[in-house]
Amino acid sequence: MGKTHANKQPSKPTRLGILLSGRGSNFLAIAESIRAGRLPGVEIAVVVSNVAEAAGLEAARVLGLPAVVLVSKGRKRAEHDADVLACLREHGADLVCLAGYMRLLSPEFVAAFPNRILNIHPSLLPAFPGLEAQEQAFAYGVKVAGCTVHFVDEELDHGAIVVQRAIPVLDTDDAESLSERILAEEHLAYTEAIRRVASGEFEMRGRRYVKKIEGIGNRE
Ligand code: GRF
Repeated sequence: MGKTHANKQPSKPTRLGILLSGRGSNFLAIAESIRAGRLPGVEIAVVVSNVAEAAGLEAARVLGLPAVVLVSKGRKRAEHDADVLACLREHGADLVCLAGYMRLLSPEFVAAFPNRILNIHPSLLPAFPGLEAQEQAFAYGVKVAGCTVHFVDEELDHGAIVVQRAIPVLDTDDAESLSERILAEEHLAYTEAIRRVASGEFEMRGRRYVKKIEGIGNRE
């Protein structure tokens, strides 16, 4: 029908597989960005939690999204990850978003989604990787703090940076108020990172994730 052959196909939606373990505020910020039209062409395929009681999982159910529990406790990492991978594939996820997922991924998992797994970390990496990053930054006495969305590779909090957002540390801050203000930035940063990846307008140059230059590289 019609003369559609001359036009390129409308690009396929980007289908997110969200992995979480806890309250899920980053997941909810992503879901709200999609609802509000800030992430055109992006949809949530499935929300997976390794913790049955995770509040984020219940929030996903309330939103009517596919919500799956795959308990990790007491299981071998490779076996649990294989189940998560199967679930992501079953739901057609093509971009994995770790949103407070408190579990390291196996090398097999990372290899299954090359440069298609995002994580959010509440510090300006490479400073303060690991747990309680906000508290680490506060105790160190930094004057600027923030968050990082990065691709996941085989090292902890290490892959190429997609988005960072920075805020000043106020003299009146304590670790809790700083964490709260960082969290507000996280919610903005994750949407921007997904937008960049889904847009197809960015590419890796070494470790740098940068906008493609017109006329160079693979254009759509
Ligand atoms: C966030 O601070 C995130 O940076 C870290 O874990 C926390 C998850 O919070 N990786 P939430 O579950 O998204 O509210």
